[in-house]
Amino acid sequence: MKARILVVDDEPAIRDTMRMILEYDGHEVLTAGSGPEALTIAERESPDIAFLDIKMPGIDGLEVLSRLRGTNETLPVVIVSAHGTASTALEAGRLGAFRFIEKPLSKDYVLDAVREGVELGVLKRENRQMRSALETKHELVGTSSSLKQILDQVRRAAPTNATVLILGESGVGKELIARAIHRASLRAKERFVQVNCAAIPEELIESELFGHERGAFTGATEKQTGKFEQADRGTIFLDEVGDMSPKTQAKVLRVLQEGEVERLGSARTIKVDVRVIAATNKDLEEEISLGRFREDLYFRLSVIPISVPALRERLEDIPALVQHFVSQFSRENNRRPARFAPGALDVLRQARWRGNIRELRNAVERLLIMSERDVIEAEDVRSVVRSDATRFQAAPPAAGAPSAAAAPSPTADDPAGQGSAKPATLREFKEWSERAFLVDKLREFGWNISKTAEVIDTPRSNLYKKLEQYGIKQETEG
Ligand SMILES: Nc1ncnc2c1ncn2[C@@H]1O[C@H](COP(=O)(O)OP(=O)(O)OP(=O)(O)O)[C@@H](O)[C@H]1O
Ligand SMILES: [Mg+2]
Repeated sequence: MKARILVVDDEPAIRDTMRMILEYDGHEVLTAGSGPEALTIAERESPDIAFLDIKMPGIDGLEVLSRLRGTNETLPVVIVSAHGTASTALEAGRLGAFRFIEKPLSKDYVLDAVREGVELGVLKRENRQMRSALETKHELVGTSSSLKQILDQVRRAAPTNATVLILGESGVGKELIARAIHRASLRAKERFVQVNCAAIPEELIESELFGHERGAFTGATEKQTGKFEQADRGTIFLDEVGDMSPKTQAKVLRVLQEGEVERLGSARTIKVDVRVIAATNKDLEEEISLGRFREDLYFRLSVIPISVPALRERLEDIPALVQHFVSQFSRENNRRPARFAPGALDVLRQARWRGNIRELRNAVERLLIMSERDVIEAEDVRSVVRSDATRFQAAPPAAGAPSAAAAPSPTADDPAGQGSAKPATLREFKEWSERAFLVDKLREFGWNISKTAEVIDTPRSNLYKKLEQYGIKQETEG
């Protein structure tokens, strides 16, 4: 690979030798005869690698190196010196030089350093990009006062060790908030271990959380470290904590009280220093009154409760969120960011967002994938958002809910109950047309199920299943 290489040396003869070696190997060479000149060129030309002489009049190589680090932390630097003492090499290493080569120069050493430096530079840049992508990925975006309040709670809760309970509907950002607390805490450099209590089968959750010894139960062929132990000195995130069984609740309570765990099949207790953050979309107080959740555990968990409002209660966050998802999407897919017209944002503000921010994010991505244009207009949004609402329609619209977003129900003119929106995906289209076909045939045969099933050549049981699947009910007269 051809690299752009900066050679810094006060001796013209050395610069010439280096230029010869490097250009012969196909690289582009920039030279500087002094420290200040090197800094200017490094900034202007953004080289891939720099070879830096130590002993120069004015600012020496080590000083150049440390100033370079201030402006360009990823530039790989090779120190070149005739005066190589162990201590300069050490100092250069401390300042982030990745190689130290001695004069007189050997062609092989120089080219070797170039190869290594190029790879290192690529890695460093990738790493930095990934880090910043991760950071924006976990950013909490919004302008509403309720989001500001949440950020404030996060900031205050973070440096403490107090247990935090995050409450809110599905997709409102509970996990994001949990991560934000961890990142702003004194434990940020330690692990954030997530356990989804709803996704792990009852018989496995205890060994998942607390670990087990080999042979603790049938099938325990290897010992396993539990999540609490893995999170030692860090944070454990107990997601969907409302779905934990009473037995597991009792054990978790013990960890919270005693700060120690016991692996299954072991009598030994292990001290753990873990910060607990829990989240649920269940109404825990109701779960308590139904006898499904322990009140004492609830008190332990909700030292700092954070309630996250649904998206419909903070519609003013929508423009900022859309902007955030658009720029994230275009960065990940190497596309020019599209713009949402004001009318398009209005339509988004009128939608129902049962799935909250997750659903908004999916809708935005879908729009970006489907639309080739630079500006997304209201009608683009209407087609996507409306069909989303249809698909997820379960409860009747809340009083005063804007009708544009409410899903239509089947009528004579609209047998599929899809409104005027066109199905957006092949699956939606298939379901849409299947439903329309069935309604049509049922009407034709006076809603006689046996007769209809016979005519369309499907078992009656299958027809019943379809009626249920699509929520098809016999129309009543008038
Ligand atoms: N304030 C926000 N700013 C930016 N992105 C957000 C915000 N809130 C949520 N998101 C995004 O919305 C999606 C859902 O968030 P998250 O997974 O944290 O929700 P949740 O409350 O844990 O949902 P569930 O209860 O379904 O697990 C994620 O992609 C997340 O990045
Ligand atoms: Mg979640």
